[in-house]
Amino acid sequence: FHVDWDLVTAEKAGFDHFMLKEIYEQPKAYRNTMMGRVAADGRSVHLKEIGMTPEQIRAIRKVHIVACGTAYHAGLVGKTAIESLARIPVETDVASEYRYRSPIITPDTLVIVVSQSGETADTLAALREAKRCGARVLAITNVVGSSVSREADDVMITQAGPEIAVASTKAYTSQLIAFYLLGLYLADTLGTRSREEITEVLTAMQQLPEQVESILEQANVLKQIAENMAKHNNLFFIGRGVDFAVAQEGSLKLKEISYIHSEAYAAGELKHGTLALIEEGIPVIAVITQEALYEKTLSNIKEVKARGAHVLGIVNAGMEVEVAKSVDEVFTIPKTSALITSALSVVPLQLISYYASLARGNDVDKPRNLAKSVTVE
Ligand code: G6P
Repeated sequence: FHVDWDLVTAEKAGFDHFMLKEIYEQPKAYRNTMMGRVAADGRSVHLKEIGMTPEQIRAIRKVHIVACGTAYHAGLVGKTAIESLARIPVETDVASEYRYRSPIITPDTLVIVVSQSGETADTLAALREAKRCGARVLAITNVVGSSVSREADDVMITQAGPEIAVASTKAYTSQLIAFYLLGLYLADTLGTRSREEITEVLTAMQQLPEQVESILEQANVLKQIAENMAKHNNLFFIGRGVDFAVAQEGSLKLKEISYIHSEAYAAGELKHGTLALIEEGIPVIAVITQEALYEKTLSNIKEVKARGAHVLGIVNAGMEVEVAKSVDEVFTIPKTSALITSALSVVPLQLISYYASLARGNDVDKPRNLAKSVTVE
């Protein structure tokens, strides 16, 4: 009698891959990352881990967000959250570029490093450079006691739990939650948003876990879509604003594990070059969640449709009927506050990557040439 059971199988808790398990752990990761940070009355954010006084926060003139890979993409969303909530100018940089472009780091710069592992060499080097220049460094990391967490001045731990799959999912979305909380916290301290506005975003954030669950319930629809996409060798993602940031993460995820070449484009920039690559049948995934930009993105969708692209629209509930008229397929995500939609819109893209990788027979959890944590520069 032989029981085919080992530790790894047990750790996957019934899921075929760590990546799928981690995608499904996101509702819990969101709750845990918010836990203890939202006041009981749901009207303010407490970040006890941030040692800056209100005076020190008021003295911040600019923010630099520095990270690699998926964490960099979280930083792109973080830029929008901080700029729109707290009205502080933010630049987001890839860590391997940051140090070598002579960034203007002054003592009134807050440098935020984002790293799931807290061990990425490029990110750590950027952190050290920022400290050398006298900036205060805030780390957003998933690993307590990691190098980044030990060297930063302030540390926000994302409570995603251990992430095993090389392709990051729940760590990324937990980083988004951390950025939303941070943005609200800074906004509250600086008085750039009213109590009502802060409460409204926090109320919407509390609903995110259940809304992610409702997306996960439609995994089969995304599996079908992914299996068709897996037959192609090229694919495009388009979006504007935070949708462009999510498009970039969707494209990276797909490349990492399915090995399908893809590019993410700011929807309005397509016509300045990339449109030349659109040909009959090419799949385009359009992330279209921002009502203020919706008409503009729709007109970009029409540009690719006219050249024969097969378009999947990832849209908010409420906009799906209108968008359906211009695309081939629609996947609807629940409606939430415009600022925080990325925490929902990325989930279908994660599942599409997962199922596309599976359809191609790849090693989902350990893609070729990649490592979970890169400790060389
Ligand atoms: C590696 C991983 C990526 C990850 C990046 C940054 O390249 O394969 O998935 O996004 O490192 O990792 P970090 O631990 O710093 O977030």
